[in-house]
Amino acid sequence: MEIINFIKQYIKNPRTVGAIAPSSEKLAYRMVEDINFLNATCIVEYGPGTGAFTEKILNKKKNSTIFIVIEYNIEFYQILKEEFKDEPNFILINGSAENVKEYLSKYNIDKVDYIVSGLPFASLPEDMSKRILSSTKEILKYKGEFITFQYSLFKMKLFKTYFGKIKRKKVHLNLPPAYVLKCKN
Ligand SMILES: C[S@@+](CC[C@H](N)C(=O)[O-])C[C@H]1O[C@@H](n2cnc3c(N)ncnc32)[C@H](O)[C@@H]1O
Repeated sequence: MEIINFIKQYIKNPRTVGAIAPSSEKLAYRMVEDINFLNATCIVEYGPGTGAFTEKILNKKKNSTIFIVIEYNIEFYQILKEEFKDEPNFILINGSAENVKEYLSKYNIDKVDYIVSGLPFASLPEDMSKRILSSTKEILKYKGEFITFQYSLFKMKLFKTYFGKIKRKKVHLNLPPAYVLKCKN
């Protein structure tokens, strides 16, 4: 069911959905494995889709940690809204990651510990990617981390213009294989 929904949304919105299938269990594991869930007070996720990373984060985060999730696609938003309706401190927004600062300000949040992204930067319009990366850099705490994945290293140069340190790891067990990038200011 999840995969069918995903393919349907990809056919309707190829540039913003950017993948024909949700991320694998292994990729989701690699995306969240280094997050310090004990210390994090606020985690943001961009582009959750059907929730591959969202579920992992919800399973590991403390109840008191605020988790703000921003999804652009209304159908994915509705699926997540229903699935995670009882989660404490889970704020789901139907909007664009470009407006993350505006959404955070509604909750009086200035800086966050982690931003986990499923956004398809390779297919998003370049100006949209730049607005998202610029706001992301601004809202990260001093030791905060921006964690994203990409199917190619095509956008590395763009990420390097925003982040001073980038660690990368390849995950073969995903369709297609992907790189996890962990970026710090
Ligand atoms: C490649 S899919 C990843 C879905 C999921 N994270 C996964 O790994 O299975 C990209 C997701 O980003 C969403 N998206 C695209 N542009 C966005 C934006 N500007 N703000 C928030 N979400 C966006 C799409 O609707 C889609 O759900």
